[in-house]
Amino acid sequence: MRKNKDKKVNIDKTAKRKRLWILLGFVVVAVALYLKGGYISGYDIETTEYDIEFENLPEAFEGFKIVQISDVHNALFNTENFDLIRTVYKLKPDMIVLTGDMINYGTTRFKRLFPLVEQLEEICGVYYILGNHEQTMRVANMLLITEEMEKLGVKMLFNDTVRIERDNEAILLHGLCQYKKSYRDPYYSEESTYEFSLSDMEKMLGKSSDELVDVVLAHNPMYFDVYAEWGADLIFSGHIHGGHWRIPIIDKGIFSPNEELFPEYDGGEYIKNKAHMIVSRGLNNGMEFIPRLFNRPELVVVNLIGSPNS
Ligand SMILES: [Fe+2]
Repeated sequence: MRKNKDKKVNIDKTAKRKRLWILLGFVVVAVALYLKGGYISGYDIETTEYDIEFENLPEAFEGFKIVQISDVHNALFNTENFDLIRTVYKLKPDMIVLTGDMINYGTTRFKRLFPLVEQLEEICGVYYILGNHEQTMRVANMLLITEEMEKLGVKMLFNDTVRIERDNEAILLHGLCQYKKSYRDPYYSEESTYEFSLSDMEKMLGKSSDELVDVVLAHNPMYFDVYAEWGADLIFSGHIHGGHWRIPIIDKGIFSPNEELFPEYDGGEYIKNKAHMIVSRGLNNGMEFIPRLFNRPELVVVNLIGSPNS
C-alpha cells in the first residue's frame, strides 16, 4: 500500500516537472520570436507603400504622398511616440490621415494623443476621423479631444468634405463618421444593425464628384461595396486590426472586432470598379494582454499617380 502511494507521488512530481518544461519552452520560443522580428508583435513598425493610378488626377497631385495612421489605441511607440513620428517624418508625406481608434474608449490616458498629433501637424496637414472607440468614449473627453485638435490645427472630419488644393488644382477629401450601430460590437448599448446603405452615405456626404478625385476616410471597411457604389476613388480604412493573429504563409487574419472569423477585409488593397480601398492593419489593438501574432504594427503610405491613359 505504502509502495503504491510513493509511486503516485513520484508520478505527480514527474508530470509537474514535464508541464513546467513545456511552459518554459513556450516562453523561450515566444521571447526568441519576439526578439527576432516582432512575430509576436510588438512595436516594430512596418511600412506598406502603394502607388495608385487615377485617370482624373490633376497634374499638381502627381506623386502626392498620403500617410495613413490607424488604430493606435493609446499605444506608445518608444518614449513619446518617437519611433512613430520619426518613421512618418522620414517618409516626407504631403498629407497625414488618422482613420480612427487613436485612443481606447475607456481610457483616462487619451491626452497622450496630443503631443503625437502636435508633432505630426508640424510635418504636414493632418485630417482625423473618428473610429468606434472615439464614438464610444465619454462625451466630455471627446469634446476635450475635439478642442485640442482644433488648437493644434488638425482638421476633424465629421461627415465633412474638404478641398485639398495645390497650384489651383484640387482633389476632395471626405471624412465619414458612421453610425455606431453600423458596427457589430458588444460594448454598444444600442442594438447594432450592422447596416450602412448608399442613402446613409449620401445623407452624410452628399454626392461624389464627377470631375475630381474623391478620397474617403471610413473607419469600417465592411461597407466597401457602398463606398464603391457611391463613387469613391480611394478609401482609407482600418478597424479590423489585421485580424489580430495572422496565419503565416497564406497571410490571413483570424479575428475581427466585428465578431467574425477570417474577416474579408483584413488588410491590404481591395479594388472594385474604379474604387481602391486600402485597409490598414493598424498600429495596435488596445489589448496588451493578448499580443498580435505575425501581425506587425502597420503604417500605410499611398502615392497618387496619374494614369498614362488619361
Ligand atoms: Fe480599432
